[in-house]
Amino acid sequence: MKIILLGAPGSGKGTHAQQLTKQLNIPQISTGDIFRKNLKEGTPLGLQVKDILAQGKLVPDEITVAIVKDRLAEPDCANGYILDGFPRSIKQAEELDKFDNIDCAVEIDVDKDAIVRRLSGRRFCPDCNGTFHISTLSDATKCPACGGKLIVREDDKEATVKERLRVYDETTAPLLQYYKAQGKLKTVDGNGTIEEVYAKILKVLQ
Ligand code: AP5
Ligand code: MG
Repeated sequence: MKIILLGAPGSGKGTHAQQLTKQLNIPQISTGDIFRKNLKEGTPLGLQVKDILAQGKLVPDEITVAIVKDRLAEPDCANGYILDGFPRSIKQAEELDKFDNIDCAVEIDVDKDAIVRRLSGRRFCPDCNGTFHISTLSDATKCPACGGKLIVREDDKEATVKERLRVYDETTAPLLQYYKAQGKLKTVDGNGTIEEVYAKILKVLQ
């Protein structure tokens, strides 16, 4: 199954993509994780996107589309994949339609105040890409999955979060209409617990 997870920053795309990837045995493709990995390793791409990520802006479509196109051509994507954070503009969605045919786009719809609470308490593991919330961690510095050192993502600072939400409303939210018109949009109320929201996602994927 070829699935897109749509939703504002902090809506739970990464959290639920990690659950789905295990359950469905198909890869999670997170453009945000790809950019952060390159940043950490100091690659030319990492240097190119450093300021863009820190400002909460979008990486140019040509760069992002080329990366995803290459990634989706890898053998592990043959039986499907979960796109987490891509596409993020109408242009990216149109380009994706030219080289692949997705089955459905699941929107995780979360209230703005919950989003701010979630992002301000998020902790991220750069070693295994695990995403957690301080409210559920007994030790807020250690990754419960791999033992790595948890960090606060650079772009979870208040000013950057505001800009990411603005960019979402302006450039990414129009994708809801785009996939609705294709009959592929499924919307899930993302305001419950992680388990509750995940159960709703599984239901719409059946
Ligand atoms: P990216 O990494 O994709 O960031 P994002 O879209 O802003 O999404 P987040 O990762 O912040 O949120 P999420 O929906 O994954 O939520 P999460 O599961 O972590 O992109 C980063 C940057 O890269 C962009 O700003 C841009 O610069 C660039 N980029 C990436 N893709 C691009 C593209 N296609 N084109 C151009 N540029 C691109 O959950 C958040 C928190 O909430 C966690 O702490 C989690 O534990 C908690 N939580 C989750 N669900 C629940 C729940 N139900 N109840 C309580 N807490 C919950
Ligand atoms: Mg994410």
